[in-house]
Amino acid sequence: MSGAEVSLRSVSKSFAGRSVLHKIDLDIAAGQFVSIIGPSGAGKSTLLRLVAGLETPSGGRIELRATGHVADVRLMFQEDRLLPWRTVLGNVQLGLKGRDREAFDILRAVGLRGRESEFPIGLSGGRRQRVALARALIHEPDLLLLDEPFGALDAITRAAMQLLLEQLLAARPRTVVLVTHDVEEALLLSDRILLVKDGGIARDLVFDRPRPRHRGDPALATLKEDLLDGLLSAEGNIPAVA
Ligand SMILES: Nc1ncnc2c1ncn2[C@@H]1O[C@H](COP(=O)(O)OP(=O)(O)O)[C@@H](O)[C@H]1O
Ligand SMILES: [Mg+2]
Repeated sequence: MSGAEVSLRSVSKSFAGRSVLHKIDLDIAAGQFVSIIGPSGAGKSTLLRLVAGLETPSGGRIELRATGHVADVRLMFQEDRLLPWRTVLGNVQLGLKGRDREAFDILRAVGLRGRESEFPIGLSGGRRQRVALARALIHEPDLLLLDEPFGALDAITRAAMQLLLEQLLAARPRTVVLVTHDVEEALLLSDRILLVKDGGIARDLVFDRPRPRHRGDPALATLKEDLLDGLLSAEGNIPAVA
């Protein structure tokens, strides 16, 4: 299976003495698609940033393993973080010399062939996220880290992006960790769903339903309710009665 293996051993993170994550143990297999859900402020982005090496753990150890080389890790966020002064092609080729063929290929794969010379400002939010996805995937990362990448998109565009991501991963499997507040998105895409709350992993759910999955699948509905219960019972998230 292609992709990096990820292992966290007793990983903790505090900011200014305040503990956010406490002694997390986690093993992610190569090629696994893991989603992280949890209440806002639970430390989901922090966990992702630790795995990306953008934050240093306050305690514990994180290891990434890819076969035969240092694991390539790419991130994608809710904001596209494109460079406005570069074209679509220029954004995808950022940091690469040449590689025109690959850039054109990946732009075709994300449905943007013909828009290479346009600038981000002229594109819809969904298309800008397609560019951001292409920019991550052109590196053939062993590990793709996605922090609510479709969170700002409208429902239809989001559904299209979920489908696109699924197709791209089917063609080129790799390890993925997706932070999402959308439980349905997690259920549609993941092999495994982690619920992060109170500084730890409160649920670790393996979900091996065949793909493509359908929103109307009763198995999804049951799990969705279960996971939403887990989210709602999180401290500070108990809905107020009007
Ligand atoms: N660089 C930082 N400095 C101080 N506090 C931080 C920093 N990054 C995150 N935090 C705090 O850590 C907690 C978890 O943040 P975050 O991982 O962004 O949560 P989530 O992504 O689950 O919403 C929050 O209380 C946040 O304010
Ligand atoms: Mg976050």
